[in-house]
Amino acid sequence: MTERIGSHAGGRRSESQSAALYEKAHQWIPDGVSRATLLRRPNPIYVDHGQGAWVTDVDGNRYLDCNNNFTSIIVGHANPAVTQAVSAQMARGTAFAMASNAEIELAALLCDRVGSFELIRFCNSGTEAVMGALKAARAFTGRPNVIKVEGAYHGTYDHAEASLASNPTNWGDAAAPVTVPYSVGTPDSVTEEVSVIHFNDAHGAREAIRRQGDRLAAVLLDVMPSQVGLPAIEPEFIAAVRDTTREVGALLVLDEVISFRLGYSGAQTLLGIDPDITAVAKIIGGGFPVGGVAGREGPMSTFARSGSARAKVPSGGTFTANPVTMAAGFATMSQLDHDAFARLDELGDAVRSGLRSAIDAAGVDWQVTGRGSLFKVHPHTRHIRNYRDAHLSSDEAAELEHFEHAVQAAGVYLSGGGFGSISLAATDDDIDFLLEGAAAAFAG
Ligand SMILES: Cc1ncc(COP(=O)(O)O)c(C=O)c1O
Repeated sequence: MTERIGSHAGGRRSESQSAALYEKAHQWIPDGVSRATLLRRPNPIYVDHGQGAWVTDVDGNRYLDCNNNFTSIIVGHANPAVTQAVSAQMARGTAFAMASNAEIELAALLCDRVGSFELIRFCNSGTEAVMGALKAARAFTGRPNVIKVEGAYHGTYDHAEASLASNPTNWGDAAAPVTVPYSVGTPDSVTEEVSVIHFNDAHGAREAIRRQGDRLAAVLLDVMPSQVGLPAIEPEFIAAVRDTTREVGALLVLDEVISFRLGYSGAQTLLGIDPDITAVAKIIGGGFPVGGVAGREGPMSTFARSGSARAKVPSGGTFTANPVTMAAGFATMSQLDHDAFARLDELGDAVRSGLRSAIDAAGVDWQVTGRGSLFKVHPHTRHIRNYRDAHLSSDEAAELEHFEHAVQAAGVYLSGGGFGSISLAATDDDIDFLLEGAAAAFAG
């Protein structure tokens, strides 16, 4: 296939291959794709292949991939060591109803890296990991309720998705945020069992945790939530959540599904947080479906049988810990040494400072947030501490969408909401390419 660098209309022209495939897909798939997050106007882009930091679509357009399958690709596409490990495993079979040493190797690697990971159980997605973590917290404490942050995305488990998309018409008073069910048909019991707090609201967190008291199983927390705007977490908020959960005998469940890519031992080590349970996923699967629940021996023992009794939280799954995923995860995580994370920080710093310069040069009222290899642009200058600060008016949302279209036309593939990530495969020239595209989009 001939590649047309600099011509990125493929995903947007009605006569494109992507448009034709999308139209065809509707015959069998509601909305054309099984992942809502792939939808973009006027149609999703259909991929042909990826190599390193770049992806090529079915129309031959090349994009610098700053989506990285929603942050799960960290060493680049078709990474040679990962390809070699996966190919070797595939030649020996892909899925068995037998345990494999590959599972033990990845478990040991992860538990060696993170202080709070005394034990780990694998599953197939971040959604499943968050669900498993909450079930373990309930089983361990014998309590039903959960507190989460307004606007934070934790996958699609009923309790975890509550108040994911709250808006000014339903989110309630700032002093008493309302739990808003996300999917239509969510049972009322879910909203009764989930309370919502604001990110970075230490006082509100303390009050909510104490109010729940001996009904509270866990606080579910992502330290750098993308839908909340990738704000910096404040130490007082961390302390309030950690100390008050301990005070009432509840657990702190960290969602490191994305933030695990911020450091060698995850964001928890960078920030000095000691969670009881952590949900991980994305990068630990090396490009394959994965999740993991890791944590202290006490809560993790809920996954283990006790004598002949079944576990308090039975867990499994046909493809759980399959050796292909485990081998890919091990081959990926083995490449992520301290130098690799230093390079990811360097790349991310270059992107964030370059974007800030482009904003200044264009004289527009935008801002950039993020840390490590993550960044997010916002079409306003409100100080972002929580979801309500980050929430866009319809004019701002239209402005952001215009920016995203312009950046995509320049050959840069972001996630929605102005969110992006950088993989280790990106070069300094790739960062320049990204910044040129963004500068043109800000100026236009
Ligand atoms: C913070 C966070 N938690 C959980 C999930 C769910 O992970 P998965 O898509 O693997 O189910 C995501 C997915 O993007 C996420 O960003």
